[in-house]
Amino acid sequence: MVKNRKFIYAKPFEGEPKVSNFKLVEEELPALKDNEVHFEAVAISVDPYMRAIASYIKPGATMIGSQVAKVVESKHPNFKPGQLAVGQFGWQTNYIGDPDLVMSPFGSKEPPHLLPDFQGLSPSLGLGVLGMPGNTAYFGLLDLCKPKPGEVVVVTAAAGAVGSLVGQIAKIKGCKVIGFAGSDDKVEWLKKDLNFDYAFNYKKIDVLEALKQAAPDGVDCYFDNVGGVMASKIISCMRNFGRIACCGAISTYNDDTPPDAPAVQIYMIMKQLKMEGFLAQRWADRWFEGIKQNVQWVKEGKLKYKETVTKGFEKMPEAFICMLKGDSTGKAVIMV
Ligand SMILES: NC(=O)c1ccc[n+]([C@@H]2O[C@H](COP(=O)([O-])OP(=O)(O)OC[C@H]3O[C@@H](n4cnc5c(N)ncnc54)[C@H](OP(=O)(O)O)[C@@H]3O)[C@@H](O)[C@H]2O)c1
Repeated sequence: MVKNRKFIYAKPFEGEPKVSNFKLVEEELPALKDNEVHFEAVAISVDPYMRAIASYIKPGATMIGSQVAKVVESKHPNFKPGQLAVGQFGWQTNYIGDPDLVMSPFGSKEPPHLLPDFQGLSPSLGLGVLGMPGNTAYFGLLDLCKPKPGEVVVVTAAAGAVGSLVGQIAKIKGCKVIGFAGSDDKVEWLKKDLNFDYAFNYKKIDVLEALKQAAPDGVDCYFDNVGGVMASKIISCMRNFGRIACCGAISTYNDDTPPDAPAVQIYMIMKQLKMEGFLAQRWADRWFEGIKQNVQWVKEGKLKYKETVTKGFEKMPEAFICMLKGDSTGKAVIMV
């Protein structure tokens, strides 16, 4: 018998998530049936979407999320003991089931995939720069914003898992990059280590004032991770034919009702802007293209990454809450 520990979504969020929204439970898992696999969690991800789509999670259900997990035992032809896989197994230490039936948090089937060759890099990167956040940055920026050399690219939540990669990929493409983040330490990291041309602490300077300094002629591409008022202000500074990739709206995830933000339509019309929302899963059929490119850039030293690691499965709720508040830099992961 396998002993499993898991966090269930015990009480619906009201505003900011609290530790009391989760309950740690233990259970014994049954023996494997045909086609089933026993996966044991190695590293588990905490991501903003877990708050954004909480209304879809049934109270009492295992908390959603992806992990890098090791195959312990397998009765499935595609998985062998010892292999590592990335799968939507949720906030739990063990999973036994048919991998072909694993569901994504968005309700479609999403079978786990074996971890590609990371050429000696940590498997936990499969939850960050070499996984979903890496591909969100890669495809969202390149396919939707289509930045050209010399153009001005702005990114918010710039020191986070996605934002820190967006800015660096824009630099690789020869752009001028401006990032907004929520602490002086993050701003230092963006400027000194990641070579952002400008970075600002949005808690200390208004974005309009910052863009007057850093982009007096306007912004060509905006990769929006935060939504709300900050996004509207940045959109008001776009140049003609600018492109906006709507990736996330974290500034609004804890709100019951959407905030009143300045209207952007007049800028969209007069500057002939293009704004497109997306989910990274759109590029499921090109998933490994993104990972392969990001591995190469990491190996070449062109794409730097940071992980904020929390040790211990039982600290998952705290790690999630801290990530949402901005206490993490780069990708927040839990090593089980
Ligand atoms: N569309 C997709 O497929 C997709 C995929 C992945 C992520 N996303 C979205 O992309 C965004 C970034 O995700 P991530 O995984 O990279 O998370 P992350 O940036 O690593 O962590 C979230 C960050 O958001 C910032 N933040 C929190 N509250 C804020 C507020 N009120 N205003 C401005 N910033 C705030 C905090 O940084 P500061 O210290 O800078 O405030 C925090 O560190 C999220 O909105 C997420 O939902 C979308």
